[in-house]
Amino acid sequence: MKAVLCKQFGSPENLVVETVPYPTAGEGEAVIAVAAVGLNFFDTLIIQGKYQFKPAFPFSPGAEVAGVVKSVGGNAQGLAPGDRVVAFTGWGGACEAISVPVARIVKLPDEVSFEMAAALTVTYGTTLHALADRGRLKPGENLVVLGAAGGTGQAAIEIGKLMGARIIACASSPDKLEFCRSIGADATIDYTQDNLKDAIRMATGGQGADVVYDPVGGDLAEPALRAMAWGGRYLVIGFASGAVPRLPLNLVLLKGCEIVGVFWGSHVEREPEAHRANVRKLVAWCAEGRIRPHIHGTYTLDQAPDALRAIERREVKGKAILVV
Ligand SMILES: NC(=O)c1ccc[n+]([C@@H]2O[C@H](COP(=O)([O-])OP(=O)(O)OC[C@H]3O[C@@H](n4cnc5c(N)ncnc54)[C@H](OP(=O)(O)O)[C@@H]3O)[C@@H](O)[C@H]2O)c1
Repeated sequence: MKAVLCKQFGSPENLVVETVPYPTAGEGEAVIAVAAVGLNFFDTLIIQGKYQFKPAFPFSPGAEVAGVVKSVGGNAQGLAPGDRVVAFTGWGGACEAISVPVARIVKLPDEVSFEMAAALTVTYGTTLHALADRGRLKPGENLVVLGAAGGTGQAAIEIGKLMGARIIACASSPDKLEFCRSIGADATIDYTQDNLKDAIRMATGGQGADVVYDPVGGDLAEPALRAMAWGGRYLVIGFASGAVPRLPLNLVLLKGCEIVGVFWGSHVEREPEAHRANVRKLVAWCAEGRIRPHIHGTYTLDQAPDALRAIERREVKGKAILVV
């Protein structure tokens, strides 16, 4: 079968597509014939050796797949060949088939396409865990989303809206902000043009942000923290800007607010049942049309470098998907 392989750390152009042996299902695993692979910002890091996980060479990027169960190993209960499924793989997904522990697999109804399903697990899973479990977002609260047109950002707009929050979407261009409004943002801020702290205060009628969702970090973090409301929650999602901010803790004291870490990958390992319940909820919401992951573009396995370059260049609105 064909697989996108990273044989040494480097840029997307260093990836190669080669033929590798078809996988067999181990104990408690199922082999999925991959139909679609969701790419994420961290795929651009994992191939450079800059991510927290460094798989052994050669490895395929691709942390989430959707497809059809081809075969099951011993003790792989609840799944059978022919089932449509979605799975979190961590890496290894950018290929024609992969063997995955059944605990990482959730069945898909016919209403949810493979492309849509491949866009659900990581970004929407992270966001549901962040907003509900970690951020305790309540109806009527002001939710400020940074990097709002990106993968996690679009999920925060949609899930925040479903949870009854008022969404202030922040991004780097008028085109991205228009996209955010089209998926439900109530107000928008261009942080390349406006003073972020003042703009958040204005957009919240002077109250400030009850919850900040931050997948960008860097220079945006401190002004966003300065615009928090009393008792707010600042959700640390990631550092797409490339810079990990250092923040004055006196601000946290003065605002009686919390800085809350969100590590979804670890949540998947430590709380597998809660994770599966969240994915089932997301799949149901998607089937009902209550969330609709935006697919920026679809790419073949051979075009994986183009997709990763688009993510690096901040061009992608929503998700880039490999279609196998
Ligand atoms: N904590 C967790 O469990 C968890 C889970 C999933 C992802 N993450 C992390 O969350 C972050 C965002 O992931 P994502 O999938 O949403 O990424 P994405 O789709 O690429 O979106 C990231 C956004 O960040 C902004 N950005 C600012 N500076 C950037 C730069 N130098 N390069 C690229 N983007 C830049 C861009 O928006 P503008 O152009 O509008 O500024 C972009 O849309 C990543 O660091 C990822 O590793 C964390």
